[in-house]
Amino acid sequence: MFDVEKIIQDFPILNQGGTSKPLTYLDSTASSQKPTAVIEAMDTYYREYNANVHRGIYQISEKASDAYEKSRKKVGRFINARNWREIIFTRNATESLNLVAYSWGQANIKAGDVIITTEMEHHANLIPWQQLAARNGATVKYIPVTEQGYLDMAAFEAMLSPEVKLVAVTQMSNVLGTIPPIDDIIEKAHAVGALVLLDGAQSVPHMPVDVQALDCDFLAFSGHKMLGPTGIGVLWAREEILNAMPPFMTGGDMIKHVSFEGSTWNDLPWKFEAGTPAIAEVIGLGYAVDYLNTLGMDNIRQHEIDIVTYALDQLNQVEGLRIFGPKTPENRGGSISFTLGDIHPHDVSAILDSEGVAVRAGHHCAMPLHEKFGLAATTRASFYIYNTNSDVDRLVIGLDKCLNLMA
Ligand SMILES: Cc1ncc(COP(=O)(O)O)c(C=O)c1O
Repeated sequence: MFDVEKIIQDFPILNQGGTSKPLTYLDSTASSQKPTAVIEAMDTYYREYNANVHRGIYQISEKASDAYEKSRKKVGRFINARNWREIIFTRNATESLNLVAYSWGQANIKAGDVIITTEMEHHANLIPWQQLAARNGATVKYIPVTEQGYLDMAAFEAMLSPEVKLVAVTQMSNVLGTIPPIDDIIEKAHAVGALVLLDGAQSVPHMPVDVQALDCDFLAFSGHKMLGPTGIGVLWAREEILNAMPPFMTGGDMIKHVSFEGSTWNDLPWKFEAGTPAIAEVIGLGYAVDYLNTLGMDNIRQHEIDIVTYALDQLNQVEGLRIFGPKTPENRGGSISFTLGDIHPHDVSAILDSEGVAVRAGHHCAMPLHEKFGLAATTRASFYIYNTNSDVDRLVIGLDKCLNLMA
């Protein structure tokens, strides 16, 4: 049913002949590879109907507008939005988070208010809140992460008060892999009147996400981590929240009427899409969503649980290797960050690269989390739909080589 060998055939980058070592790509947490369907959809747009959207009264422009808006509906259905008007296209998850921090944040966060986030956030879901709090006299509080990589829920509950206006939390950590108890967080945050923003940059590509079932208020994610192109991201929010928010950027396309005295804003979602959008990228993202739907998000999640189970088992047998984050595959996603004795993660990564194994080394845009664990950097291997247990084996062989060379 979930035929990885067949999936691999759909990814040109994984099928390049003539290289001395085949590519073992273990960095999908940073950015996923792209299937032919996505590459060809973008190529077809440029070759056959390249034109601006929402403007031209001629055939190729209308075709481009239709394809652009069709992608929006696909994305809306993918996360079970109530309505396609709730899907705002941005450049990436980072821009989606900044959009909320500037537009909603400036209008709603006042002196004395509290924003809660966690110690395991990507900088994209941390710095915008620090900056918002600094601008408006609010405070940011961080839910602590335990040694085992879980959120300290008792500490979270102790932070809750009527001053809390926003809880901004990742739905899957890009470093520890942790999947926090989101339902519980949302219920408790709503009970004190706070809105909940989910950073879905890792969850949306890797597991089923249903915004209505979750009952969250905002969800931010990036196209390039879910088989789509770079340069396209999504902000979802409940329609009434978006309607009440002022525009983030202003200019063409986001207006209804403009005069020398002032302007009025376009309807949702275009109120938040100023200027010419990333048309080819939006179309590509729609094809990425089709591809994921064909595989089935439940199957994708199960494949990752299987591969993470195998990877944790194999990695635990490597001498001196320390894994961060939950030990149980059901509680984590496909990102596994680790240290290997005293060997610097950059050396580990470089030696693995010589074996054709691509991993990430560094702080993975989560510097405070690394500092908390007393580390400057870790090595991170991350898995997705096109990875197999043989990729784990190649990683382990590479790590043994690191030990032989450096330990
Ligand atoms: C959890 C998480 N949030 C946010 C981001 C930011 O995504 P982007 O760089 O696509 O804006 C990332 C990227 O790695 C991430 O892993």
